[in-house]
Amino acid sequence: MKIIKTVNELTEFVGHTLERGESIGLVPTMGALHDGHLSLIDQAVKENDVVIVSVFVNPTQFNNPNDLATYPRKEEDDFRLIARCGAAVAFAPEVSEIYPDGLESDKVFELGTAAEVMEGKFRPGHFQGVAQIVSRLFQLCRPKRAYFGEKDFQQIAVIRNMVLSEKMDVEIVACPIKRAEDGLALSSRNQLLTAEQRAVAPEIHRALADSVDYSKEHSVRATHDTVVERINAVPFMNVEYFEIVDGRTLLPVEEWEESPYIVGCITVYCGDVRLIDNICYRK
Ligand code: PAJ
Repeated sequence: MKIIKTVNELTEFVGHTLERGESIGLVPTMGALHDGHLSLIDQAVKENDVVIVSVFVNPTQFNNPNDLATYPRKEEDDFRLIARCGAAVAFAPEVSEIYPDGLESDKVFELGTAAEVMEGKFRPGHFQGVAQIVSRLFQLCRPKRAYFGEKDFQQIAVIRNMVLSEKMDVEIVACPIKRAEDGLALSSRNQLLTAEQRAVAPEIHRALADSVDYSKEHSVRATHDTVVERINAVPFMNVEYFEIVDGRTLLPVEEWEESPYIVGCITVYCGDVRLIDNICYRK
């Protein structure tokens, strides 16, 4: 596996790969890799000739400076894991390589209403930052396919909107959520939890999973409230939002009959650590 740190070297690598007629799969990450990331890389390795994994903590998508400062970084471990999965390249640039003209961008991406709800409301500017880095990575890596996890359900919808509005020629592949044995969705942020917080964190997924059965006999509102009340009753936990939405538009639904595809998206503060998860009610 090659570790590439500069845009020049990456451009050269991508050029040679495409000249040989080989397909490129891209897995964008912010590092501190866990089995969730590795499942994306495994799938990309199966489906493409050459896989590039980017490891870049993108400052422009952080709206909270403390979140950026405490974001876990483990580059050496990451490179080892990426090599073991069979990817060809780990692309780990400095911020100045990616944003040589500074972090400010005049470009405003057309991301649709999907970018305005939930994370869009609570993390202003976040999805513009995600679109900025993902579009830059697409431009540099020229992938045939790019892989994203359904843990960040809204992120996939927003990236699909970006691909449509920018007329980008790349297939977006959505991969299922990987969980710890106790149900907690794997996340780089889980390592910031104390032992006591880690012990109660699986309650998020348990409450969501139990609510699927509950939803068969209860209204959207009652299902929403039961999840929020149950999680807020757990020590350290504070639900930031829980929204039950149409799985395509991400707009809230009021009745189960409103859409054939309904997903519940949640963000919970466990102490200071912001955890997100989701569950499918109807598909
Ligand atoms: P990061 O949080 O590092 O996640 C990289 C990719 O791994 C995302 O597509 C995310 O959805 C996926 N992922 C994370 N945890 C997962 C899990 N438990 N199961 C399955 N997939 C999981 O998301 C980002 O980085 C950034 O926003 C990025 C797209 C790289 C742009 O900077």
